[in-house]
Amino acid sequence: MKVLIAYYSFTHNTEKISLGLLEFLKEKGHQTDLLGLKPQKEAQKFIHQAVGAFTKTGAELGDGVNCDFSGYEAIFIASPVWAFSPAPIISEYISKTQNVKAKNIYLIVTYGSGLGKNRALDIMESALVKKGGVILAKIDISDKKVKDALYLREIFSKEIEI
Ligand SMILES: Cc1cc2nc3c(=O)[nH]c(=O)nc-3n(C[C@H](O)[C@H](O)[C@H](O)COP(=O)(O)O)c2cc1C
Repeated sequence: MKVLIAYYSFTHNTEKISLGLLEFLKEKGHQTDLLGLKPQKEAQKFIHQAVGAFTKTGAELGDGVNCDFSGYEAIFIASPVWAFSPAPIISEYISKTQNVKAKNIYLIVTYGSGLGKNRALDIMESALVKKGGVILAKIDISDKKVKDALYLREIFSKEIEI
């Protein structure tokens, strides 16, 4: 199966999850593309990151980023929780995605305190459902667990049905 993992990561937690997921999916025989998203101007200060996330502003995708889901049978989108929201570049990416209708989508967030993790997943879900996407699972992973390969495998095996 042709699979896409699109993610953003500032302090590498979501990146670790995405790389673990890549390995998991490849072992299952899926042809998997990894798309690391970066804003053209990446906010470096906590306050700018938090305000941008909450207001869904301040992140622009560079030219040439593939936002087209056609050709993929399953899509994973992974984001850190920022200010009870997805990172702004993830909201921006989702708003630009095309050919989302009837696509099977998994959502992943990594989080610190856990405050707002469900809200962040719900925001991602609602934007994609409006485009006709089908959300198969919403997965949240604590930033304390990102290096626990065994734990990640358990979560992936439990939640991912492809
Ligand atoms: C600007 C900012 C805002 C954050 N807001 C939240 C939050 O609202 N809730 C939460 O549980 N964690 C929050 N965190 C913690 C991150 O979600 C967590 O550390 C995540 O794993 C970081 O992912 P990354 O290393 O891929 O960037 C925030 C972190 C930053 C930098």
